[in-house]
Amino acid sequence: MVKPIAADLSRDGDPPRHPGLSIALHWISALAIVAAFVLVLGRELFDEKAVRAMLLTGHRSAGLLVLVITAARLVTRHRREVTQATESGFERLVAGAVHTVLYLMMIALPLLGWALSSARGHVVSLFGMIDLPALVARNVDLADQLGDIHETLAWTLLGFACVHAAAALWHHFVRGDAILRAMSPFRVRIRRA
Ligand code: HEM
Ligand code: HEM
Repeated sequence: MVKPIAADLSRDGDPPRHPGLSIALHWISALAIVAAFVLVLGRELFDEKAVRAMLLTGHRSAGLLVLVITAARLVTRHRREVTQATESGFERLVAGAVHTVLYLMMIALPLLGWALSSARGHVVSLFGMIDLPALVARNVDLADQLGDIHETLAWTLLGFACVHAAAALWHHFVRGDAILRAMSPFRVRIRRA
C-alpha cells in the first residue's frame, strides 16, 4: 500500500524526500543505463577484438546491475511515495504510467540481453564472479531476432527516460514544486520568509 507524504515544507524548512535507499537506487540505475549505452556504443571506436570484447563484458555487467537494482527498487518502493499537493489526478496517472513502463523496460531489456547472449552461445557472468545459466539454447537466428528487439527496446527506454527527466525538470523550474528536490541526492534546504 502506498503511503503518501504531503509535499508541503516541514517546519524546519526541509522539503519531503524519498527514502535514502530509493534515491540511491534511482541514481545508480540511471548511471548504469548510461554506462551500458556508452560501453556498447563505444565498441565502434575500436578495431581490436580484445577491447571490443572487454567493452561488451562491461556492457553486460552494467545491464545486469540495472536488473538487480530494479528488482530491489520494486521490493522497496511501496513503503513510501512522495506526492505533490499541486498535482492533478491526471498528472499522477501519467507519471505512474511512465514509471511503470520504465520499470517494465528495466526488467525486460537486461533479460533480453541475457537471452541474446545465451543464444549466441556466450556465458553471461554476474560482474565476472558468478556464471549465470543460459536462458535459451544456442541459436543464431534467434540471437539476431533478440538482438534487434533488444536494441529497439534500449532506444525506446532512452526515449522514455528523456521524457521522464524533462518532466522532472519542468516540475522544478516551471512549477517550482518539490518533486525533483525529493529525489535529489543532495539535501536542499529552503528558507521561509
Ligand atoms: C539497461 C540495460 C541495457 C541497455 C540500455 C542495453 C543497450 C544495448 C544497445 C543500445 C545495444 C545495441 C548496440 C549497437 O548498436 O551496437 C546493445 C547490444 C547488446 N547488448 Fe545490451 N543493453 C542492456 C543490457 C544488456 C544485458 C544485461 C546484456 C547481457 C547480459 C546485454 C547484451 C548485449 C549484447 C550481447 C549486445 C550485442 C548485440 C548482438 O550481439 O547482436 N545487454 N545493448
Ligand atoms: C535512465 C534514466 C532514468 C530512469 C530509468 C528513471 C526511472 C525512474 C523511475 C522508474 C521512477 C519511479 C520511482 C518510483 O516511484 O518508484 C523515477 C522517479 C523519479 N525520477 Fe527518474 N529515472 C531516470 C532519470 C532521471 C533524471 C535524469 C531525473 C532528473 C532530471 C529524474 C528524476 C526523477 C524524479 C524527480 C522522480 C520522482 C517522481 C515522482 O515523485 O513522481 N530521473 N525515475
